[in-house]
Amino acid sequence: MTEALLEELSRLEREALAAIGAADHDDALERVRVEYLGRKDGRVSAILRGLGALAPEVRPKIGAEANRVRDVIRDALAWRTAEVAARTQRRREAPLDLTLPGRAEWMGGRHPVTRVIDEISAIFASLGFTRARGPEAETEWYNFVALNTPLDHPAADMQATLYVHGRVLLRSHTSPVQVRVMERYPPPIRIIVPGMVYRRDAADASHLPAFSQIEGLAVDEGISFVDLKAMLAEFARRFFGPAARVRFRPSFFPFTEPSAEVDVSCIICNGTGCPACKGTGWMEIMGAGMVDPAVFEAVGYDPERYTGYAFGMGPHRIAMLKYGIPDIRMHHENDVRFLSQFAE
Ligand code: PHE
Repeated sequence: MTEALLEELSRLEREALAAIGAADHDDALERVRVEYLGRKDGRVSAILRGLGALAPEVRPKIGAEANRVRDVIRDALAWRTAEVAARTQRRREAPLDLTLPGRAEWMGGRHPVTRVIDEISAIFASLGFTRARGPEAETEWYNFVALNTPLDHPAADMQATLYVHGRVLLRSHTSPVQVRVMERYPPPIRIIVPGMVYRRDAADASHLPAFSQIEGLAVDEGISFVDLKAMLAEFARRFFGPAARVRFRPSFFPFTEPSAEVDVSCIICNGTGCPACKGTGWMEIMGAGMVDPAVFEAVGYDPERYTGYAFGMGPHRIAMLKYGIPDIRMHHENDVRFLSQFAE
């Protein structure tokens, strides 16, 4: 009898503690209390009430154990009740709002410079130009000599060009790809050449030692400066918008004659003058010109038969103009606060 009662008490203790641990709201805790400690039918209460009927020599032992189990259950109920209340309070302070939008996964996006390169390439593709590429480590022949640039020209100087080893250098522009393509293919040629170029320049707000260019080249019989102007005017309208106009200023490049700097009407003020264009109404976007006959001679084209035009622009700079980016270095700081503004 004694052993059976002690076993019963120990089982009730285990069961009650498990039920209290599993109860996660006040109603469930109250049900546990009634089941074990309820005044009328509580299972521990019943044992306590029956103590009087036990033999006097076992009564103290059973009584002490029954009281201990009752106290353990009461304490556990109090502790769990406080815990549930604290959790309810936390929920109330930060309520669950089912109407909030979900948290979107960060998807990444194309880099603004890549985007500009893709857009420019697509425009020229629709105008009949094929994409070509060339190596970034070049020889003096392709980077300078075949482009009518003698090696004593300041651009070929060690101060301006990054030499890798011996006479191998990192190309300082994408123009060497003009030569590579013309050496390999006969006219007509219409290519667009995106790629990285390298110069021995310190990084500042408008310079980087590594930056992108897009070269363009068209060669055929009967191509004139008019074709160049019309092509670049059409490009400017498609890329910057229908109101964009272009302006050509005389310039010099060893591999084009005549040569020009090409400006586009300011995309911020539409040509009236603002801080972005320093009050001029124009933004410089590229160098261009008619292919110099000396370049045709270097690649084995007949300069009496063929003419052509070439141009070169900088997508890093064009992205700055298009998106109002104040410092070219921002392109390469890998700052998500900057890059996420271009996510698609
Ligand atoms: N290669 C020239 C530069 O890097 C740009 C250019 C390309 C000019 C083609 C004329 C024709 O400055």
